[in-house]
Parts: sequence; C-alpha cells; structure tokens
Amino acid sequence: MKYLIANWKQNQNLADIDNWIDYVSLALSNKKITNKNLTCVVCPSFLHIFYFKKKIANSLLNSFFVGAQDVSEYDRGAHTGEVGAFQLQDLCDYVIIGHSERKQFGETIESIHKKIILAQQNNLIPIICFDSVQKYQSLKACIDYKKPHLFAYEPVGAIGTGNPASLESIDEIMQNTGVQKLVYGGSVDYKTIKLYVKNPGIVGFLIGSNSLKPSDFVNIIKSLN
Ligand code: PGA
Repeated sequence: MKYLIANWKQNQNLADIDNWIDYVSLALSNKKITNKNLTCVVCPSFLHIFYFKKKIANSLLNSFFVGAQDVSEYDRGAHTGEVGAFQLQDLCDYVIIGHSERKQFGETIESIHKKIILAQQNNLIPIICFDSVQKYQSLKACIDYKKPHLFAYEPVGAIGTGNPASLESIDEIMQNTGVQKLVYGGSVDYKTIKLYVKNPGIVGFLIGSNSLKPSDFVNIIKSLN
C-alpha cells in the first residue's frame, strides 16, 4: 500500500477542480488502471475542501481521502483567519503540518508542535514534514506514536525545482533519523517515482506541481501499477 498525497498549494479554482475530478474519474474507470493498492489523499485549499469532498462523494473517486494543507495552532476562539483542527475533522482525514513553505509565514517549531498535538487530538492524521535530521529530532517529542501519523521527508532543494532527491540521500536520512517509513516529497513525477519504489521504506509520495494537471496525476498512478 502506497500513499499518493496531492498538495495543491495555492492552485486550482472551481473549474480546475471539476475538470480534475472528471478527468481522473474517467481515467480510473478504464479497467487497465487500478488504484486498489494506493491511498490517494488530495489536499485542496481550505476554501475548496468542502466542495472537493462533496464532489468526489458522488464520483468514482469516492475512495479518495481529503486533507488540509495546514491547521491552526490554536483551539476554538478569536483567531481571525485561522482554521482549527476541530473544524477540519468534519471534512478531512489528513493534514499536512510543518511544510517548509509555511516558514515564510512565520511558522516555528513551537507552532508545529501545537498543530501536531491538536491534529492528533481531533483524530486527523498529521503528515509531518521535515527537511533535516535536526527538524525531525525537534518534532519527535510532541507526537503521540500510538495514533496514526506519517512522516514526510521533503528536502527544500527538491521542492518545485525539478531536482528530486537521490535514493541514496533518502537512505541516508532514514539511517540518520532512524525513521523506518516515510513519504517522500520533492519534484516527484511519473518517471522518478519508479526509482523510489525500490526502497520499501518509502511508503508514499507528497506531490505538488505534478498533481495539478489531472493527466500528470493519472500518469503517476499508472506508473505505480
Ligand atoms: P513539488 O512539491 O512536487 O512541486 O516539488 C512538493 C511539496 O512541496 O509538497
């Protein structure tokens, strides 16, 4: 079983989402493509989570899961513009936490801790991103290991650059952190993904750019068949 997690970031409007769902549904209805060994999670913007969830419920993508790209570090209250874990749990199963792109908006290790704790308390599965051994070490303390969680290794130099990390460098990070299972993210496409499946410790992929065009996403699913 592998995870394919689409991180749409600040992309896709309603027309794009309709087109994506129609295209991917049609492609998966083709008997040559099977996704039974995949857990697909799509993370639209907060604004579109409800719409996406409703649309897939009545489509061939009803086995897909929905995730958020971030969560508030605060519980319920006067936090204008924030979206809490207790709200996300109505619509999402997963939430990406600690993505390196959040740093530019002031996210700190302390806020990531609070987010992970609130996510797990609200039965969301955190997809905990790290880009170094040091960051991984600093996140370990707040995780409830008895509850479901995923680690996602995303080296900054590989995100959105077209330069995915080498298999060797991922092996090295697994050895240096002791993480036995991780999701890899950073310039994954339908070609490079084949290389990574050779490492059984890589249990899935966090895909940004190449999850936006439905044909790219379908090609990724195909290459894992
Ligand atoms: P990318 O993004 O696939 O565009 O490199 C991955 C991510 O940031 O999650």
